[in-house]
Parts: sequence; C-alpha cells; structure tokens
Amino acid sequence: MSKTVHGFSKLNKSEKIDWLVATFFDGDPKVAEVLRQYWHDNQVLQDLHDDFIENTLSNFYMPYAVAPNFVINGRDYTVPMVIEESSVVAAASLVAKFWSTRGGFKAQVLSSTKIGQVHFMYEGPTASLEAYIESKMARFYEVTEKLTRNMRQRGGGILDIALRDKTEALPHYYQLHVSFETADSMGANFINSCLEAIAGELDREDIQVVMSILSNYVPDCLVRAEVCCPVTDLYPENAAHLAQKFVQAVQIAHAAPHRAVTHNKGIMNGIDAVVIATGNDFRAVEAGAHAYAARNGRYQSLTHASIENGEFRCWIELPLSLGTVGGLTSLHPLSKLSLQLLGNPSAKELMMVIAVAGLAQNFAALRALTTTGIQKGHMKMHLTNMIKQLGASEEEKQFLIHYFENRTVSHQAVVEAYKNLVKDR
Ligand code: MEV
Repeated sequence: MSKTVHGFSKLNKSEKIDWLVATFFDGDPKVAEVLRQYWHDNQVLQDLHDDFIENTLSNFYMPYAVAPNFVINGRDYTVPMVIEESSVVAAASLVAKFWSTRGGFKAQVLSSTKIGQVHFMYEGPTASLEAYIESKMARFYEVTEKLTRNMRQRGGGILDIALRDKTEALPHYYQLHVSFETADSMGANFINSCLEAIAGELDREDIQVVMSILSNYVPDCLVRAEVCCPVTDLYPENAAHLAQKFVQAVQIAHAAPHRAVTHNKGIMNGIDAVVIATGNDFRAVEAGAHAYAARNGRYQSLTHASIENGEFRCWIELPLSLGTVGGLTSLHPLSKLSLQLLGNPSAKELMMVIAVAGLAQNFAALRALTTTGIQKGHMKMHLTNMIKQLGASEEEKQFLIHYFENRTVSHQAVVEAYKNLVKDR
C-alpha cells in the first residue's frame, strides 16, 4: 500500500486518523483509541489546540508542576515547570529551599537587544554600496514607521541599522544588521516584518536580496544570575573539600566540550521547563544558548564558580529571548496561568526567573555529581515509573516504595522485588 497521500490537510481529524491507522497500523482500532483518549472534553479548548498547528490528531500531555520557595532579588516565586524528566522539579524545589536560607538568588538583565538581518549579494565596489545604504537610511525608518509605532510606545523599536561586509566569509555577501528592542514581546513577527519592509527598499539591480530573518543568536540580550555564601554554609561537613570539587566540576565543563554539553543540558532542563510553561519558544532559547556557549571558539559551560576569601559563588550568564505578551503566552490558558503565578512579569523579570531555574538545576546536578553521584536520587525518582510499567497496584506500589527506602534501586532489583511480592501472594 502506498504511504503517499495528497490533500491530507483538507481531511477532517477523524479522516486523518483513519488514513494513519489504515496505512501504518493495519487498521488496528486500538491506535485510534490511543489518539482519541487524549482529546479534550471541552471542545473550545480542543479547537484552540487543534488550531495551533496543522494536521493535529491529538494532544501530547506533559506534566505541569511548580517548584516553590525560590527567592530572587528578595522576592518569593513559585516557578511553573513543564518537563517529563522525573528529577528536575524535585531538584529545583530542593535547591530553591536551600538558597532561600542563604540570601536567595541575585539576578540582573545585562542587555536586551535583539538582532535581525537582511542577507544580500552585491558584486560592485563596497564604497558605492555604503553610499547607497547611507542614502536609504531615512527611508528604512520611514517604511517601518507604521510597524514600529506601537513598539516605540512601549519603549522599543529599531535601535540601529548597519551595513556589514561579510565578503571574507562568503564572496559578495553583505548584511543589513538591524538591532531591535522589543520590550515585553519576543518580537519575532515584529522583527521579521520590519526586515522585509527594509529589504523591499533595496531596489538596485546589482543587489540581490537572499532572505530577511531575525537571528536567534542574541548575545546582547543577556541575563546573569548568581548565588553565594560562605563555603562553610555549603555542606554540613567537609565543606572546603566539597566546595573545591564543585568548582573543579565547573572548570572541567569550561575545559572539556564533551562534559560541557552534558553540563549545559542539565542547565537547559531547568530553563526549557519554565520556557515551555510560560509559552515561550524553547528551540529559539536552546539555539541561542548553545551558540553563546561556543562563542570563544570552543563549546563551554554556561555557568561559572569561584571560591574567594572563604566565599563560594556560582553564576550563570546566558542570552534569553523571551516574551510575556503575544504569541502563545496569552493564547494558551496554562501559559497565561504560569505568568499570573509569576506575578505577570515583564520579559526582563522572566529572563531573571528562567536564568535562576537554569542555575538551580546546575547547582543540584553538580552537588550530587561531586558527592553521592546522581544515580541514587535519580533512580529513587524513577522508581515510581518502573513500578507503573510493571502494572503494580496502588498497594503493591506503596509496598515497593517502602521496600526501596534503604535499598539500591535498579531496574533488575525492582523487577525482582515485584516478582517476589506477587509470588508471595
Ligand atoms: C540529566 O538530565 C542532567 C545531568 O546529566 C546534568 C549534569 O551532568 O550536569 C545530571
């Protein structure tokens, strides 16, 4: 049977499922049931989700949780997180509590400039191009006037338009490099609309516009968050030695890219969870963060740590392009709720909260890795998943959780304990 289909997007949802089931699952009715069981009873809500993307068949649920007790710049936050990895929220909550009694997190936005570029080819003399672009500058602002009016009222707009000669990287390649301030919106549509309007003004025959698009690399939209305390407050015993190991773990992530990727992945566990919960674009944030981690020509840690005069300090610095208005933030009822929970923050405040979530994850991971290792805590959290996979009843689940309180959790150990439990019944 051919697996090619024409006019698929025109079919209704049930017809799409029927085609899928017939083509890939031998007509097994259980497959349609699996998809349908996640349809929402509330039709308005379901329609909303259906319309986010094309060819929606069902909803893919992720757990929505909160991590309480974050103190950031002296203010209390309960942070919403959407993530499937079992230990992330628990780690965030533990670390939030830990630092809440040690002065909390301090955060600040260092800059908030976004970037967009018109990429074009030009084969003539650079001086002539420079003169032409200069002669067009006022017009660039004129044609974007309508688009930027609202944004200007909110303190944003186009900050600068500059010609960049990129011919060393690629023959004949130039850019109009445009800087934006987008206030509380992420600004993707705003930036792209402005760029297309500007590109439309490049009306010389020897200029060939290739494309106009925002950049997700925003090294001038930077946030920093940190924690610090006396080394002696960091661990109940052996503090100086363990603090030293913690700093070494960060140094290793600066020195060794293989480790840095895992180190930063742990940071993104916290960052993505809040980015998703607030309806922001986690792919944009991921791409920008990793590019920033590689800005020195080698992929490195997004966090830093030091011990000076008996004071331990750990901090994160990364670019975050976020919005608290527009996009999914106001469309998705749970994103809206998340933002309410955070006190309807500005985009800058959200940058600080999200940087803190990343730093907290990194602190939790390194503290575990340099002391007990992560498997103990990780497997404990994973225990309930494994018990569920075995099909255990609630009573059996409680027994097994109790049984593993002081035992090492592994998949084999859980299976064996379950088999013994069932056998004894
Ligand atoms: C797991 O999701 C994240 C960690 O691997 C991060 C790290 O190693 O730093 C624990």
